[in-house]
Amino acid sequence: MEEDAAEVEYSVLDFVQVQSWASEANEVLRPRFGFEVSMQFLETRQHHETRRYTAAGLDLPKGALFYPCCGSDVEVPISEFANCVESFHFADPFNPPGLPRSSTRVAEFIDVPYVGTVVGLLSNPVRCTLSGKSAIVHASDGLLALRHHIPDLSIFYYRGDSTGEGGSNQLWLKPVLFHYVLSRLYDGGLIVTDGSNCGYTDFDLDIIAPWNRFMRLPPFSHACIGDSFQYLNRTFTYICTLDRYQGRKPVGVWSVRRVHAI
Ligand SMILES: C[S@@+](CC[C@H](N)C(=O)[O-])C[C@H]1O[C@@H](n2cnc3c(N)ncnc32)[C@H](O)[C@@H]1O
Repeated sequence: MEEDAAEVEYSVLDFVQVQSWASEANEVLRPRFGFEVSMQFLETRQHHETRRYTAAGLDLPKGALFYPCCGSDVEVPISEFANCVESFHFADPFNPPGLPRSSTRVAEFIDVPYVGTVVGLLSNPVRCTLSGKSAIVHASDGLLALRHHIPDLSIFYYRGDSTGEGGSNQLWLKPVLFHYVLSRLYDGGLIVTDGSNCGYTDFDLDIIAPWNRFMRLPPFSHACIGDSFQYLNRTFTYICTLDRYQGRKPVGVWSVRRVHAI
């Protein structure tokens, strides 16, 4: 009960606070990269054509699956979602799947407030065959790829990343990029994640942000299938767990649906 009360309070705060953090991020993104992250997160994008995600008995809006910071982790997303997305987009500037690795690629690393590191690399998308399916590979920074080359999403897929050595330090599940992802995700789409680079640092809101349930740590109880929470006029429902990452942090599939006014 107490948790619910805190959540309502913080949900309201988030919206105002996140806009101000996004403005700070945009002060760096605009002059350096020529774009801003959207602050229009209240509306949800609609797509009326759907594809069946048979394993979960769900109809998904027809859109892209986007996996930033993917490295070589393509087999599970492709086999799990092969028949339910319009296109696969994998972004990694240093380890692009199906393309030559270039861990020594010269790049600028820009520290953007509330966004983390943005790498100044943006390449043209390349169509590749990965795990027997056609996919589009971006040897690019994840945020730049999403902003410039990736259509709106039916699935945001993100796991196995960190802010430490070997990780991207791109904060996809912290407030600013999380809201940007929501602004690009169609109504009824999925977030598939182990909670990498969620909150739990820096400031109070970060700890209590309702979507930190993705990470399965206190103050929220361990999420169970069927659990749901509301945030920003959307209901997030825990649909299933991908069981193909044995011994790794569990990867949950959450559906994100607009709350309809009664
Ligand atoms: C810890 S690895 C995780 C790979 C994959 N998610 C997995 O679980 O196997 C992080 C990956 O992020 C990539 N990376 C680093 N900076 C990035 C950026 N700005 N945008 C996208 N990917 C980035 C690295 O090249 C690396 O392959």
